[in-house]
Amino acid sequence: MNKLLEEIKECKKCSLHMTRNLPTIYCGNTKSKIVFIGEAPGKNEDETGVPFCGRAGNILDELLESINLKREEVYITNIIKCRPPKNRDPEEGEIKKCKEYLDKQLEMIKPKVICPLGRFSSKYILNKYLSESYEIGEVHGKVFKINDLIIIPMYHPAAAIYDNKKLDILKKDIKKIINSLK
Ligand code: URA
Repeated sequence: MNKLLEEIKECKKCSLHMTRNLPTIYCGNTKSKIVFIGEAPGKNEDETGVPFCGRAGNILDELLESINLKREEVYITNIIKCRPPKNRDPEEGEIKKCKEYLDKQLEMIKPKVICPLGRFSSKYILNKYLSESYEIGEVHGKVFKINDLIIIPMYHPAAAIYDNKKLDILKKDIKKIINSLK
């Protein structure tokens, strides 16, 4: 893992390294069987290097708590490691270059359950493992089983900041993790 951390810190493969402060690599437990993959660091993450440490992170913590998990018990990362200026959406070229790091993380962690959060990571993960492309609205909360791996795409927690209905959906969807591990 240390080699990968160094590689990411030194990375200059796209222009985001020029405007970011710290790369956001992961937080949580490298031995966890559950991996959450967000989109990209925001302002708080860029300042601390810790994924999901702002408002979306509070929602993720609340969701984890609702299934009796703490963030220290799961592994949390993002599809791209450096903050896009003004929190714009990640560009395809940036995802293409940065996915190599996510792939290496997944190889190291060997998760049993992957929860991509939001459309960008869901698109990437469903394409990687199923060679399929779905809209997040169609597939959130669905349990995909690929041999021993389970994929449960979910809405991005930021979508629930001003939307209680999305929060309810997320709370329902996250329960699938527990059911699928039984
Ligand atoms: N949104 C993300 O997708 N990732 C973070 O780390 C924070 C906000």
